[in-house]
Amino acid sequence: MQVHAHGLNPKDYSIRSGHLQWITGKRFPMQIGSDAAGVVEAVGEKVTHWKPGDRVFGYLNLYHGGAASEFCRFSEKAIARIPEGVDYVTAAAIPCANLTALQALRDWGRLKAQQRVLLIGASGGVGSAAIQIAKVLGAHVTAVSSSANVDYCYSLGADVALSYQTDNPYAPDLPYDLVLQVHGGRQPFYERSRPVLKRRGRFVMLVPSPKALANIVLSRLLPWPRYYFFPVRARTRDLALLGQWVTEGKLVPQVSKVYPYDQLVEAHRQIDSAHTRGKLVLRVAD
Ligand SMILES: NC(=O)c1ccc[n+]([C@@H]2O[C@H](COP(=O)([O-])OP(=O)(O)OC[C@H]3O[C@@H](n4cnc5c(N)ncnc54)[C@H](OP(=O)(O)O)[C@@H]3O)[C@@H](O)[C@H]2O)c1
Repeated sequence: MQVHAHGLNPKDYSIRSGHLQWITGKRFPMQIGSDAAGVVEAVGEKVTHWKPGDRVFGYLNLYHGGAASEFCRFSEKAIARIPEGVDYVTAAAIPCANLTALQALRDWGRLKAQQRVLLIGASGGVGSAAIQIAKVLGAHVTAVSSSANVDYCYSLGADVALSYQTDNPYAPDLPYDLVLQVHGGRQPFYERSRPVLKRRGRFVMLVPSPKALANIVLSRLLPWPRYYFFPVRARTRDLALLGQWVTEGKLVPQVSKVYPYDQLVEAHRQIDSAHTRGKLVLRVAD
């Protein structure tokens, strides 16, 4: 793919910093970046679905990176067509965050219409997508962010938006069917969430601590609630569904800042802060 725009994710920092050495190995420097939107430049001889010139966006499944480049190689199953009318910057903001939100809510959380979900870390890349996707699924959404982003969460469709600085999200009027822990802080989110989950509720975490991983194993021995961690996976059909929702106006990818290619370092400093609103995108080519 000739990359036109690259969407940044906290994963890029984790690869660069060496935190994921146990997955990536230790051969540094490493290529970074997993989200890209651009044009198919060439295809392998067994690829039949794509041809040079197709406008596509995609996610690199493995922790190897490479999307923060002018050219990048994707699996044919990890890309989808950019819908008519959607530009490269918007398309590059979709893959990792929106796939994660979709798979967390629909596949791991089994969220259904009328159910109640608590989103912890609701104003960043995954959270801003999760609020909107939970509403598409017909759920009641309680979103947790800093005080500065409470109104922003309401603007994305949250039914209730709370601040982790001034409110207590663990005292709801009604229990939750699902808690999605997006933010990977050290606080004991899952211990606090257990009493506010329905008896057959689910707790899905994106960044598990070792103790939380132990709880995942333990919870297999107990009936409920269930704890889950999963690594997001690129799938053409999921990317296509997200693209369809974008064209239907049900999902608006949240791009808070677009950086020119030579400001990759500044973009990384911002993504490292863990307080980015929505997504950051790097414009690689015009
Ligand atoms: N398992 C997977 O496959 C997978 C996939 C994608 C992402 N992830 C992980 O998921 C995490 C979130 O990704 P992202 O792209 O959404 O990151 P992000 O864009 O940096 O967003 C981080 C969010 O966390 C919130 N936050 C910060 N401190 C908080 C606190 N003390 N309590 C509650 N929320 C807090 C921030 O809100 P404020 O700015 O309002 O403070 C912001 O909304 C990252 O650690 C990433 O590595 C995992």
